[in-house]
Amino acid sequence: MSNDKVFATRQMPGSTLERLSQYCDLEVWDDFMPPDYEIITEKMSDLAGLLCLLTDRIDPQLMDAGSNLKVISNMAVGFDNIDIEAATLRGIPVGNTPGVLTETTADFAFALLMAAARRIPEGRQYVQDGKWRTWHPTVLAGQDIFGATLGIIGSGRIGAAVARRAKGFKMRLLVNSLETEAEIRQLGGEKVGLDDLLAQSDYVSMHVPLTDETHHMISDRELGLMKSTAILINTARGSVLDPMALYHALRDGQILAAALDVTDPEPIPLDDPLLTLDNCLIVPHIASASVATRAKMAEMAVDNVIAGLRGERLPTCVNPEVYD
Ligand code: DGY
Repeated sequence: MSNDKVFATRQMPGSTLERLSQYCDLEVWDDFMPPDYEIITEKMSDLAGLLCLLTDRIDPQLMDAGSNLKVISNMAVGFDNIDIEAATLRGIPVGNTPGVLTETTADFAFALLMAAARRIPEGRQYVQDGKWRTWHPTVLAGQDIFGATLGIIGSGRIGAAVARRAKGFKMRLLVNSLETEAEIRQLGGEKVGLDDLLAQSDYVSMHVPLTDETHHMISDRELGLMKSTAILINTARGSVLDPMALYHALRDGQILAAALDVTDPEPIPLDDPLLTLDNCLIVPHIASASVATRAKMAEMAVDNVIAGLRGERLPTCVNPEVYD
């Protein structure tokens, strides 16, 4: 065990943190809610490792509050909460948890697609409200999935995993990027421009990281291109969609429905107009939340911390240029 100090900004599943505590002097934030930015900043002065979550903003000021930081490890595949350029400039490797959550997140994106298409949350509410008085030909009629067209925006690992699921439903696949080209082509995916994808798809599923380029990439103009029967699914990051534009499009019937695992901001405020819409299904950023996957994410995040403390290359590093 070393004297290196590590701060974990939350408890993690299983005995992962116990394993970490065998390597270092570990402090764990025990609260359900994240520590304030100021609290993390205060802790930074003597930290060698920071194990954080996507709820923690890790910016240059925070990094500069420490002088001994050897590693930042995010228990998430996304890392838009961390200023990677600033970390690289300071020679700090940043770890994430790619791969282990791909299938779990794709399962959930598809579950959202199906729930919105077949109006499952509305059906549950209908029963609970005592409205189920008889079988009726038009009650809660939704959209077919089998044979429909699915547009996947950003075909990285998770986009490709969603495409595999869609193949089982004999869906036509449109993609606007071919990061996982061989796999997407093998599945019969057609590469089209974003506008064509939006105009032709019955379902549009977002799978892009949040960057300056993808921020609000779906706004009024893009929603205006979509079919009035289309359903938009977002398991990426909330601000890849412009929330007010989405609200107007859903309210005015410009598109049929949306299913969102992520919002901007998170958590969504209870007075957000999107929450007033029956055709907007919102759940609290749980696409990767299977027991097994969350445990694997925690293990990977801890592996990254341990490697960083030992001065070894992080197993999954988002800024490998720090080693150049
Ligand atoms: C991630 O890992 O980036 C996900 O959003 C967490 O579910």
